[in-house]
Amino acid sequence: MRVGVVGSGYVGLTSAACLAHLGHDVVAADLDPERVARLNKGDVPILEEGLPRLVADGLASRRLRFVVGAANAAKGADLVFICVATPQGEDGAADMGFVEQAAREIAPVLSPGTVVVNKSTMPVGSTRFVQRVLHEAAGGQLDRVTVASNPEFLREGQAVRDFLNPDRIVIGCDDPSAAVQVTDLYRAMRAPVIVTDPASAEMIKYASNAFLATKISFINAIANLCEAVDADVREVALGMGYDPRIGFQFLHAGPGYGGSCFPKDTAALLNTAVRHGYDFALLQGVIAVNRQQYERTVDKIRNAAGGALAGRTIGVWGLTFKADTDDLRDSPALHIVERLLGEGATVRAYDPAAGERAGQQYHDLIVCTDAYDVVEDADVLAVLTEWDEFRWKDFDRVKAAMARPAIIDARNLLDPAALRRRGFTYAGVGR
Ligand code: UDX
Repeated sequence: MRVGVVGSGYVGLTSAACLAHLGHDVVAADLDPERVARLNKGDVPILEEGLPRLVADGLASRRLRFVVGAANAAKGADLVFICVATPQGEDGAADMGFVEQAAREIAPVLSPGTVVVNKSTMPVGSTRFVQRVLHEAAGGQLDRVTVASNPEFLREGQAVRDFLNPDRIVIGCDDPSAAVQVTDLYRAMRAPVIVTDPASAEMIKYASNAFLATKISFINAIANLCEAVDADVREVALGMGYDPRIGFQFLHAGPGYGGSCFPKDTAALLNTAVRHGYDFALLQGVIAVNRQQYERTVDKIRNAAGGALAGRTIGVWGLTFKADTDDLRDSPALHIVERLLGEGATVRAYDPAAGERAGQQYHDLIVCTDAYDVVEDADVLAVLTEWDEFRWKDFDRVKAAMARPAIIDARNLLDPAALRRRGFTYAGVGR
């Protein structure tokens, strides 16, 4: 099939490269000419395992190319994917400005029978909204163009794997033949396909992310209680996880969830609830626990520094919102760093993938190119992202470099017994 993809960010680029890999002819658009030129040379601007290879294969086979402007991707396509950003607006609602703009641009060039697919996370009602915008923009001359919702469930860092081996494919569309057309795209995959109405498809995405966020806030709350009663949250999560109704996943206590999805999508779902007069107290609690978790991590660092942060040096390992990505969006590590700087600490940080960009965001942050450099004269070392390389550092060398050997391990990444034996004071999360 001929597929147009509007937006070449994390979701659009992964979708485009994977659809080309599945044998479709894909044209992907972006607004930024420089990004498009780089992509056409096979230069992938994000850290995502397996993506450079798929982009290179797609370019070589001519099944994938990149263009500037949404209309250039939509022209002649059987299906057009809208993969543009839906950032969080002031009231928490998803801002549909980029989606609307994309729909207006593609409307005049769509062929009869084209299916426009909403791939970005968009609030309930967006399928109908896009249909309306397309009709308006085409001056009522839109011939047999249908809009479907087909949310993605990709995790950053394993987006290619998730795209090619999905747990399920969700298609929300009122027109059965358009739903079949979208299903055909994924024929090579063995995954359950759920065809439903647009509102349910849109809700599936928000409910899934909100549920995962709820699991994380729940285990973080249990971890906080474990600290009070001297239990170990990792043992608790293990014991809970054997019950298949609960499962092991998403029960890692930490500094709170972050990233481009959970904070934004929980806020947007809460906004939907407010607008429809439903008091979603549970979701409010999930969001509140998450914010408190940032603060609790700051409290632990402050306590380890002797009760005040002003004039102290804090070493930070990890700045991305989780390991194996270069994404800093809504990273708990950055929320924490911001508070440390705000209270007058000197913060020295190292991140394997995103140090330089974090330094551009926070001018007071001292970005080091090495994990050992970070701990030079530090009063506390805070591990804020679970990069695997941090497990294997020479902790005797770390201790020798620090002013005081104190570690706050906000990801429960390190071995407390081994560190205490070396003379560190150690505090993790819920253990
Ligand atoms: C998430 C969803 O998993 C994915 O299905 C959706 O499409 C987009 O949002 P992503 O944001 O890439 O994916 O990362 P994920 O691995 O889900 O982690 C999100 C945040 O939760 C991270 O900050 C992570 O550190 C945190 N997390 C995750 C925990 O604190 N504990 C856990 O047990 C799991």
